[in-house]
Amino acid sequence: LAVPLVLVGAGVLVRWWVARTDTVGQVAFERPLHVPPLAPSRVEADGTRVFDLAMQPGSSRFTGEGESPTWGVDGAYLAPTLRAARGETVRVEVTNDLPEATNLHWHGMHLPARMDGGPHRMVQPGETWTPTWTVDQPAATTWYHPHAHGSTATHVARGLLGAFLLDDPEAAPEGLPDTYGVDDVPLLLQDVRLTGDGRRREQGTGGTVGPLGTRLLVNGTVGPVLDVTTEAVRLRLVNASAARVYDLVLSDARPFHVVATDGGLLAAPVEVDSLRLTPGERAEVVVRLSAGETVDLRSRPPALGVSAPVARLVGARDAFDVLRLRAADELVASPPLPQVLAAAPDVDEDDATREREMVLSGDAINGNGHDLSRVDVVVEAGAVERWVVRNDDGIPHNFHVHDVRLVVASLDGQAPPPVLRGWKDTVWVAPGTEVELVVRFGDHTDPDVPYMFHCHVLAHHDRGMMGQFVVVEPGTAADHPGTVGTSVDDAI
Ligand code: C2O
Ligand code: CU
Repeated sequence: LAVPLVLVGAGVLVRWWVARTDTVGQVAFERPLHVPPLAPSRVEADGTRVFDLAMQPGSSRFTGEGESPTWGVDGAYLAPTLRAARGETVRVEVTNDLPEATNLHWHGMHLPARMDGGPHRMVQPGETWTPTWTVDQPAATTWYHPHAHGSTATHVARGLLGAFLLDDPEAAPEGLPDTYGVDDVPLLLQDVRLTGDGRRREQGTGGTVGPLGTRLLVNGTVGPVLDVTTEAVRLRLVNASAARVYDLVLSDARPFHVVATDGGLLAAPVEVDSLRLTPGERAEVVVRLSAGETVDLRSRPPALGVSAPVARLVGARDAFDVLRLRAADELVASPPLPQVLAAAPDVDEDDATREREMVLSGDAINGNGHDLSRVDVVVEAGAVERWVVRNDDGIPHNFHVHDVRLVVASLDGQAPPPVLRGWKDTVWVAPGTEVELVVRFGDHTDPDVPYMFHCHVLAHHDRGMMGQFVVVEPGTAADHPGTVGTSVDDAI
């Protein structure tokens, strides 16, 4: 009798395990949302805006009594929000007060490769790194995080990440909520694992997509509530998670508007009732509320196009509570959304002068792992190229290219949905599918220092799913040796 009983018991357990809809991230909304402060800056006589940042160790409490060792910028956890305007020259003085070498990469920023903060520019403990560049791109929500060879996932998870907002006063449409921390709020989404007493568990970068957490931190807050005082609120979403894909909805299924994605404002607001956000992607959404009501932002299990056994391994069954929006009893009126936000991207396939294929498979791109000295692609300043990116694995990947602005020309042969028709820098590539990108390269040439392109699933990134490109003067691509030094210091 014992054997059949054990078998039945085991069967029940397996069935429960498989069928469990993992509302792993169900929470009581009970803490005020932390809004990262705007970083102070000073403006020098020549107009340069200077930020002083210190990367430092600290200790943080997420839930319960447990204190976790964490890293932050000018604080114990997370980084302040940087903000600058188009045309301004910025200089960031980044001091590493941590016990380990790391760095900061400006994700989504158009800037010279030496300022980009890739793995070629590590900042040693005690060292100050001072990148400077002129903001030359439309208004956007960009972000910054370490980009250390092999340890990015760990350093980001410890708390080194922040938003970098770019404004374009000459091209700002009237009517978008824009009071920081009031009706314009960044939301940095990170999933973590916490112990019973609330301490953060450091995870490795093994597994199908690397670390997946069971608790969601929104700007470092578990179970956050945002008290809304205006009829419309603009949420600047950043997927800062190592591997999680979110499929965001509002609790009463009400529609909301997407007004911007990675590279800035869409041509016009797009009404949606759900929004997918994959690692590294950003989106700005506007939600309208009525006085006195409460609406929750949630993530439902994302459709990742993976087989059933893989679904659990990549988080495709998990739902999360994200943020409670609690409207005051009286709301300040918000104007209607503008009908026109920005010019639509002005490139398409016909502008491309060359085509390349990028095959994502087995922690490699086109069969190559990351080599700091190998240059995979040499492009000439201002070039437009058609890149066909194919996911040959049965697991999720997404594709990020530094410095450039790109558009999605097609997703597996289909026209992209309206929310993917703006300028992008990070694009989801579903298992077994092909994405056609039109990439416009920048104008900062440097044959000696490469930019990166890679999968933004951070464990894949750390395991070497990354290639390098250099931008060179027109007419000189054929002369490039195809190699570079492994650090900026070798490339004077
Ligand atoms: Cu967000 Cu190469 O990174
Ligand atoms: Cu990947």
